[in-house]
Amino acid sequence: MTARPIPEPFENLHDRILDVVGEEGVVAEAGEMARYLAEERGRFVGKAAFVVRPANTREVAEVVKLCAEAGIGIVPQGGNTSMVGGSIPFEEGDEIVLSLERLNRIRALDADNFTMTVEAGVILQEVQQAAAAADRLFPLSLGAEGSCRIGGNISTNAGGVQVLRYGNTRELVLGLEVVLPDGRIWDGLRALRKDNTGYDLKQLFIGAEGSLGIVTAAVLKLYARPREIVTAFVAVPDPAAALALLSRLRGASGESVTSFEILPRLGLEFTLRHIEGCRDPLEAAHPWYVLVELFGGREDGGLRELLEEALAEALEGSLVLDATLAETEAKRRELWRLREAMSEAQKFEGGSIKHDVSVPVSSVPAFIAEAGALVTELIPGCRPVPFGHLGDGNIHFNVSQPLPEAGGDFAPGKAAYLARWDEMNRAVHDLVVRRFHGSISAEHGIGRMKLAENERFKSAVELDLLRTVKKALDPHGIMNRGKVV
Ligand code: MLT
Ligand code: ZN
Repeated sequence: MTARPIPEPFENLHDRILDVVGEEGVVAEAGEMARYLAEERGRFVGKAAFVVRPANTREVAEVVKLCAEAGIGIVPQGGNTSMVGGSIPFEEGDEIVLSLERLNRIRALDADNFTMTVEAGVILQEVQQAAAAADRLFPLSLGAEGSCRIGGNISTNAGGVQVLRYGNTRELVLGLEVVLPDGRIWDGLRALRKDNTGYDLKQLFIGAEGSLGIVTAAVLKLYARPREIVTAFVAVPDPAAALALLSRLRGASGESVTSFEILPRLGLEFTLRHIEGCRDPLEAAHPWYVLVELFGGREDGGLRELLEEALAEALEGSLVLDATLAETEAKRRELWRLREAMSEAQKFEGGSIKHDVSVPVSSVPAFIAEAGALVTELIPGCRPVPFGHLGDGNIHFNVSQPLPEAGGDFAPGKAAYLARWDEMNRAVHDLVVRRFHGSISAEHGIGRMKLAENERFKSAVELDLLRTVKKALDPHGIMNRGKVV
């Protein structure tokens, strides 16, 4: 393919950056750039003058300095798995994308300090594997772990399926190395559990989605590797029963519950219908399910018996309708596949309007009921599929479009349905915030997709604080412009 001409105002910058990063560090050809400019669902497709792929922190710093001098906007990018368009440039093409994918070294692992120092471009799964090889656990775990990169996880404060036990990414980071918007490097790579020396600056950059600087490396917290893992797929009559089961299990197991994921029958049906190799693990159909996982510190430490007893007792009290425990690792993977495929399976059911919200854990059943009634009133026939992280109050309230009236293709109605995305978002978010004091973005961040909604709910004081921080760190507004704040 022919090289794409570099837009004139960028030509000089392009050449100077090329001097810093070399041929391997610049992508300017349209075909090769495509994967950096679109997100997986194709909802956001942007333009950039070119893509820069520095190989180390010094190169990142020099590139940022050159962009700062030229006043050119930078979109930092990790694995490009953002669900809110945070890693995609705008359509004007007046920014560059700075990919961290070549900063992919594990710099150190200190098993006795239970820490690991990694560069931003290491794939999450590789972080997990390196920890396991040292008999440790890095507990951040989410669907995209095979392709998302740790710098992106940190920049978006990723959540996932083990937050209940180990916290969000924010709680898993001890230190950071950051390239600031003027090109200076902040070396905050401390590996300390206690450091009470003023503002906790690293927390500013965690969850900032690259709007305050570029995370280039981090010291991560490790945990003991679990010796016993028990997984069950449990049918329950309703979300209130699921909640009661969660409280019971947390109380009975000494906080060994690591994951507690809820899914509705409709979601399971989508998965069984559309995802190859999935089968219903229980004999009869039930209205709701939870996927429960417990981690214990000792092999045969009695967690399995504990869970079996708790489930048997709940079965007697009709809190639980049926359950199956994973006997092997392969069965465990099969059960997790049913949960993890939920978003993917929804794609085959026409348009899906999504909400990534959180409410207090105890309010989840009321929220699911009220939000269901709300969206059904708004669009009769729409099909709510609320699923996700009940254990930490984070529900993916995704709503599939009504079934096509005469059967057949979803396509004709899909665009009309998706045109009501903002309207439905506003109604659900109003309920989340005003009635349940919840969050309109529990784990996916703000990016460009939720900017207006976020501003609708934040107080004037909070918006002022956010803008003050942004202005102080990035006075010329070059870091991931138009995202977050
Ligand atoms: C998940 O937990 O599966 C994702 O965060 C939800 C999504 O894909 O919408
Ligand atoms: Zn999720």
